[in-house]
Amino acid sequence: MIEIEVSILAADFMRLGEQAREAEAAEVEGIQIDVMDGEFVPNITFGPGMVAALRKTVHLPLDVHLMIVKPERYIDNFVRAGADRIIVHQEADVHLHRTLQRIREADVQAGVTINPGTPLHVLEEVFDMVDVIQIMTVNPGFGGQEFIRGQEKRIGELHRMIQESGYKIPIAVDGGIDERTAPIAAGAGASILVAGSSIYNGNAPVAQNVMKLRESVAKIT
Ligand code: DX5
Repeated sequence: MIEIEVSILAADFMRLGEQAREAEAAEVEGIQIDVMDGEFVPNITFGPGMVAALRKTVHLPLDVHLMIVKPERYIDNFVRAGADRIIVHQEADVHLHRTLQRIREADVQAGVTINPGTPLHVLEEVFDMVDVIQIMTVNPGFGGQEFIRGQEKRIGELHRMIQESGYKIPIAVDGGIDERTAPIAAGAGASILVAGSSIYNGNAPVAQNVMKLRESVAKIT
């Protein structure tokens, strides 16, 4: 089953609680919170306080995507804030194995993600340490970007690597996911779609955009 996580990066920041509740009412499978530090990516967004506020607002699983350097410094803060899953960038953490270990020791799901220019093989050493692998289909830092052409090849290659490993690790895709690119990504092996602009931008209700995204991958199981 294909899961949808909405990225609140694209939501109306003046109505974040309402927009999170709209996503919950639209029965998405989770909310992804894009944490940016202005160093790992050229943008600054939210901290643990936002996670804590969302924790009080919705019952949905909260998936914290750390686009920060040295993410291990903040694992405890985001766990305390109520994160259900913490995803770190392989490029940002020289002690990736230890960081993933710490996340799991805190009874929180652990994920790793890589940028479009990072070779897939760096992930193989942590297949046994992750509950999800997220492929960035844009260069991280901003919502509203175009899905980078050709990323479906990487998704397919990662899917093959995971199958060969024997581990059951879902692949999430993040960046430029809409009705056109979702079937491409899902067809290549992604089972979690992280979408921001295609859900929150435009005038249509959130529920309608979620439905359209779900319909775009309905034939892919
Ligand atoms: C980039 C962010 C975005 C966001 C989704 O750093 O991670 O990919 O979540 O943005 P859209 O769906 O607007 O491309």
